[in-house]
This record gives sequence, structure tokens and C-alpha cells, in this order.
Amino acid sequence: MALQAATTLDEVFAGQLAQRLCLPLLKTDVDLVHCTLATAVLVISGHSLYLQQTGRAAPGPVMVDFGSAGMRHRSRSGARELLGKAVGHGKKMPLKVLDATAGLGTDAFVLADLACEVVMCERNPVILEMLRCGLRSAAVSDDVWLSAVIQRMRLCPVDARQIPAEEIEGVDVIYLDPMFPQRAKSAAVRKEMALFQLLFDCSANPQDADALLVWALEQDTARVVVKRPSKAPSLATLKPSHCISGKSVRYDVYVHRKLL
Ligand SMILES: C[S@@+](CC[C@H](N)C(=O)[O-])C[C@H]1O[C@@H](n2cnc3c(N)ncnc32)[C@H](O)[C@@H]1O
Repeated sequence: MALQAATTLDEVFAGQLAQRLCLPLLKTDVDLVHCTLATAVLVISGHSLYLQQTGRAAPGPVMVDFGSAGMRHRSRSGARELLGKAVGHGKKMPLKVLDATAGLGTDAFVLADLACEVVMCERNPVILEMLRCGLRSAAVSDDVWLSAVIQRMRLCPVDARQIPAEEIEGVDVIYLDPMFPQRAKSAAVRKEMALFQLLFDCSANPQDADALLVWALEQDTARVVVKRPSKAPSLATLKPSHCISGKSVRYDVYVHRKLL
């Protein structure tokens, strides 16, 4: 992984960020299609931050853009219904959700669009920077819908298990979307998922997600929801109270008490 300023105007900020993230800084004129110095490069371009894989076959850039057409579509799709049902949307207003594995904030945004108050934990410093950048851009957007949704999202830049007590106070639901195991048909993996697989070797510590579920179940919340690939076993072989199943994704719901 490396960092690059898109233009000379971005070089000062790029230098500061490279130092903060301990990443090597590539020259502005390095061509990422032919670059062999890194497999992925975090590019700073004005107020945007995006991750670009290097090489000829690399998919397009990945960035956090809550106002994008893709995000708007997702907020209106069937995926929203499934996730809403899993967290218990409509049973309590407002519902406070801790997204313990925020990633690029897509699920958190869908939840906030469903009027949930969302606290997002993210521990990876590169993903965190992308998330911060996306939240900053959305907060200054003149799109009324977007800025209203964003106001219900708060970032907590820690490992979820180290969340301060005041942040977990009053949380109704803990939501987990840990890394999916590597899929054999990697060409079919969405570019965001390919990026996660590149950034983290999720096979390195398969018990990590299990431990996170065990931690989540120890917290004083009404329910814990885990997103899984539809055919994957439950985390930590813990049987959920019930499942909400979609075509490729399943939500395992662990109910402690009613949402009141
Ligand atoms: C598959 S991604 C989540 C994608 C996210 N649901 C979305 O919609 O973009 C998993 C993310 O969880 C983060 N993560 C995993 N374990 C964590 C933990 N214990 N605390 C905080 N973040 C964690 C990883 O760094 C990664 O960014």
C-alpha cells in the first residue's frame, strides 16, 4: 500500500497523511497502471480520497461517496428492507445501532436512512480516513436528504471492543459485518470486497470475527445482528434466534430482549 497526490496541489496534505498512516509516498507522475511498487494506492485529489488498485486488470477506484447513485439505489433497494427487518426497524424509534465493523459505511448509511442513530466503529486507519473524508463531504453537501442522514451517523475510530462506555450507553442493536471468507471465484467479487480482501488478510485470524460476536453478545443490548454469506456457517457456531435470508446474504439475529 502507498499514497499518492493526484496533482502537485495535493502534495502537502499527501505528505502529512503519508506520515500519519506510515505509508510510502509515490511521486505524482507514477502511472498506477504500470506501477509495481504497491498493489493498492490511496490517492488524494482535492477533497476526495480514493483507493486504486494498480495494474492493467485493476478495477476502478473505491471511495466513500454517500451521495452517489449507487448509494441512493442501495438505500431504496430490497437490501434495505432485509437489513431493516434484521435490526428491528419500526419496533422502536429512534433505534440506536452500533455498527461495530463500519468499513466504507454503506450499511451504516442505509441504517441512518431508516432513521436509526448509528455509531460506527472502524479500526483500520486507511478505511477510517476514507470514511472520514466521505462523512466530511456529505456534511457540507447542499442535498438536504443527504445532510440529514449524515447527522445520524457518528464515527468512533476504535476497535469496537475498546468502545468508550458512554458510546455504547443506550445502544439497542449491535450490527456486525465481519470480513467474508475469500471466495474461490474472485473475479466475481465486487470491487469494494476485493479491496477489503486486499487490505486485510481475513484468513490470517479466522477467530477474530467469532471473538467479536462473543464480545457483542456480552453487551447489554436488545439484539445482535450478523451479516453472513447465505451459505456460510454462523459465527462461533452460535445458533441465532432467527435468520433473515436474502439471495446472497443472510442476517443472523440474536435476540436478548424485546425492542421497547
Ligand atoms: C466487510 S467490512 C464492513 C463493510 C461495511 N458493512 C460496509 O457496508 O461498508 C469489515 C470492516 O470491519 C472492520 N473491523 C473488523 N473488526 C473490527 C473491530 N473489532 N472493530 C472495528 N472495526 C473492525 C474492518 O477493518 C473492515 O473495515
